[in-house]
Amino acid sequence: MTAPVRENLSGLDLRAEIDRLRKERNAVILAHYYQKPEIQDLADFVGDSLELSRKAADTDADVIAFCGVKFMAETAKILSPQKTVILPDMDAGCSLEDSCPPEQFARFRAQHPDHIALTYINCSAAVKALSDIIVTSSSAETIIGQIPESQKIIFGPDRHLGGYLNRKFGRDMLLWPGVCIVHEAFSETELLKLKAQHPGAPVAAHPECPPHIVDHADYVGSTSGILQFAKSFPGDTLIVATEPHIIHQMELALPEKTFIGAPGADGNCNCNICPYMALNTMEKLYIALRDLKPQIEMDEELRLAARKSLDRMLEMASGTVGKGDLGRA
Ligand code: 13P
Ligand code: SF4
Repeated sequence: MTAPVRENLSGLDLRAEIDRLRKERNAVILAHYYQKPEIQDLADFVGDSLELSRKAADTDADVIAFCGVKFMAETAKILSPQKTVILPDMDAGCSLEDSCPPEQFARFRAQHPDHIALTYINCSAAVKALSDIIVTSSSAETIIGQIPESQKIIFGPDRHLGGYLNRKFGRDMLLWPGVCIVHEAFSETELLKLKAQHPGAPVAAHPECPPHIVDHADYVGSTSGILQFAKSFPGDTLIVATEPHIIHQMELALPEKTFIGAPGADGNCNCNICPYMALNTMEKLYIALRDLKPQIEMDEELRLAARKSLDRMLEMASGTVGKGDLGRA
């Protein structure tokens, strides 16, 4: 893991300094919903993986400061190669990406030459380059609906998202065995106890959760989909089975409602904080904007190869407005 910030920044008004540097650098700050509240609050845009990809592709800024994890910042670089893309902590990875080394994925593909590779965006640029179409959790349904039923598919690296899509669409995609360590940590027993304490409170879950959590959900969708569900459900209390920092946006939008993070095995939902997302801090964002590093750099051949599958996603998802299309009726 990256060493902690060693500079003494205690005399600095970090928020003011970040604002100053953002202007000086003509930078846009993009943040995922799983970032700490203070980072979400200063970002120019907060969104899910699809929305952040679109913003990165469209921005006029010279610098993209990506407050998220490495595969997201890499996606920004693939789509906007002329921009400087900085990530406050280069160790902000993802267990799904780690589960899927490109050489092993290439072998998996080679074993199934009659299958196309539909791949979750939570993977390395090298795995994107080996894939036919990328999906995010908010674009997966729109995209899978455009692939003929007779077409065989391998899906990686999230076996829970892939399994959910298989069940929902009656598909038989071959699944790579990766999981998100955060969504894997929710406890069914503790969730049922929580539901009993809050009778009538619906459960909204991310499709990265295993089936024993998704099966108790009233709504299943991407982070932006869950946020929209939070804004539209008729009750006053919602149980949220995804990384709990998203609750910050719910509390800002709906201060009169109660949002409860679904618990992990010990009944304490701290184990559901993404340890990779948590590496980004105000201090590291300030230093990254000041020094323009750590920066994402990518070999041009790899970038062009990875771009094809991402472009296909952006084309096929064009009707998707980050609306949690995986949502249950
Ligand atoms: P979405 O924001 O696209 O739903 O993805 C969730 C996630 O785990 C990102 O790593
Ligand atoms: Fe990866 Fe899970 Fe963290 Fe998302 S929440 S970045 S899938 S480890």
